[in-house]
Amino acid sequence: MVMLRNITVQVADDYAAMSQRAAAIFAAEVKAAPAGVFGFATGSTPEGMYVELAKLRARGADFSQITTFNLDEYYPIRPEDAQSYAYYMKQRVFDPLGMVKTNLPDGTAADPAAECLAYEQKLADAGDMAMQILGIGTNGHIGFNEPDEVFSCHAAHVPLAQSTIDANARLFDDAALVPRHALTVGIHSIMMAKKILLLVSGAGKADILAAALGGPITPRVPASILQLHPCVTVVADTAAAAKLR
Ligand code: GLP
Repeated sequence: MVMLRNITVQVADDYAAMSQRAAAIFAAEVKAAPAGVFGFATGSTPEGMYVELAKLRARGADFSQITTFNLDEYYPIRPEDAQSYAYYMKQRVFDPLGMVKTNLPDGTAADPAAECLAYEQKLADAGDMAMQILGIGTNGHIGFNEPDEVFSCHAAHVPLAQSTIDANARLFDDAALVPRHALTVGIHSIMMAKKILLLVSGAGKADILAAALGGPITPRVPASILQLHPCVTVVADTAAAAKLR
């Protein structure tokens, strides 16, 4: 275990070990706050952790009373679309873990700006978030807060960076179908979580993880703002942690 100021980095041997470690950390937080508010992320990285959480549920862990908020959703997209984050969450998280008090930005909203405002308000009204699960994009994005001139404070309807569109193309049958926009919570909501659990896997994330944790705090690397959060746990596999000093 490496301590970087307020950031604890746990290095796991491989993806399976990272997933198990992260699931244990998350499950302990839910045990401590069984009806708490928790923030969820999508992407490939946390998939293994969600499988591990389902195993913990089979052994008696109860996730059914928590309230969940996802970071983001493509826009526009329908929840029944297999590429939507709503679909991902239903299949991989909400149904397997028995969660019913769930929230995602609505990818079908007629007015995306109004939807962002309403989602951020709902999140604020829900009270303290016990823990926010995060992944990181290869360009340093968290949620869909892409590299920019300034940190994007509030929830917003945003254009996706070309590198994000390219990275997401693997999940779509046709690259032309990859959404160009998304609805995302802002950096403010992420930073308001009492604890952050950042999962990082693979050699392809080693440079950006090192930049995020050890480089300058800059909106060019949105995840670098986490250096200012009081309580971050990073669970990285050996490949992703390779460039941390
Ligand atoms: C996606 C999501 C993020 C995710 C990141 C990394 O586009 N919006 O929430 O953390 O990019 O994804 P992956 O884990 O698949 O590398």
